[in-house]
Amino acid sequence: MKTTEPLVLAFESSCDETGVALVRGGERPVLLAQALHTQVALHADYGGVVPELASRDHVRRVLPLARQVLADADARLTDVDVVAYTRGPGLAGALLVGAGVAVALAAALDKPVLPVHHLEGHLLSPFLSADAPEFPFVALLVSGGHTQLMRVDGVGHYTLLGETIDDAAGEAFDKAAKLLGLGYPGGPALARLAEGGDDRAFALPRPLLHQRNLDFSFAGLKTAVAVALKKLGGAPTEGDKMNLAASTQAAIVEVLVKKSLAALQATGLNRLVVAGGVGANTLLREQLNAAAVRRGLRVHYPELALCTDNGAMIALAAAMRLHAGQALLRRDHAIDVQPRWDLSAA
Ligand code: KG4
Ligand code: ZN
Repeated sequence: MKTTEPLVLAFESSCDETGVALVRGGERPVLLAQALHTQVALHADYGGVVPELASRDHVRRVLPLARQVLADADARLTDVDVVAYTRGPGLAGALLVGAGVAVALAAALDKPVLPVHHLEGHLLSPFLSADAPEFPFVALLVSGGHTQLMRVDGVGHYTLLGETIDDAAGEAFDKAAKLLGLGYPGGPALARLAEGGDDRAFALPRPLLHQRNLDFSFAGLKTAVAVALKKLGGAPTEGDKMNLAASTQAAIVEVLVKKSLAALQATGLNRLVVAGGVGANTLLREQLNAAAVRRGLRVHYPELALCTDNGAMIALAAAMRLHAGQALLRRDHAIDVQPRWDLSAA
């Protein structure tokens, strides 16, 4: 039987991962295939993402990944109904690669294009997990570039509750990791080092923790880590490093947990969705899960592999927008990206 649900091919290229995925739309969209290439090794020597190298690598990877996805799903390009891509936020040159390929394919196929907000992809990504959430919920978006608490009432109905006024949580992990001499990306490396450390060894600040708003500030943490290292004479032992890693992680996680709980209380909601790269952090998950049990809350996460950037979440967001009648399909074949873009405006 031929399904009438749309087949969505999606491209993600906002930062240092090239992602392509194919999803069958509907009430519960189904991920048919996805492929991902991470540029972690490419940028490792530079201690961070080099935008020009990122763009060039997306160009090299994107079509082979698309071919692989179609082959894995046993689908043909001509079966695709809608081509989606990440319109922003992200690196302009990197975004243009996914946008250019998506628009060119759609033009050749005479099919519409659906530009997607990267953070919408993250916050809807738990809908691809076995334990999918229900609307409404509070979303904690914690990535390398963003730290936000959003109220989510449905697809396309996002209200910002609070956000970081300086660095993002992932950025705080990455910067502290760099000071500790760990590689890029620093989050997972710092979390690994922290396993052997004492999280009370260093008293690090928890900025804005006791303010009544739902905003975050992490820039001071980097300074505090730098000062602690300086006090150690610039020659920390392995033990010092483990303790400092554990103390840093504890400070970031405590703020994220307390502010998330405050957001649930302020909205009267009892469901939390955690998305973005930092959502892969084990300590954050443990503490949120423990708080959820204590307070009778539900916490949902994407599958671990879908926490960091990927094409599946973009295809899913596009399919959910289509199903909800919230999709602004474009047929003008303009290659349009938005490196800075507010989710509440999407
Ligand atoms: O969502 P994402 O893949 O990319 C952005 O859109 O930014 O998030 C990447 C961020 C990086 O800062 C990385 O260090 C952090 O997520 N991250 C983690 C962990 N895994 C990734 N931070 C803490 N613990 C982890 N396990
Ligand atoms: Zn992301």
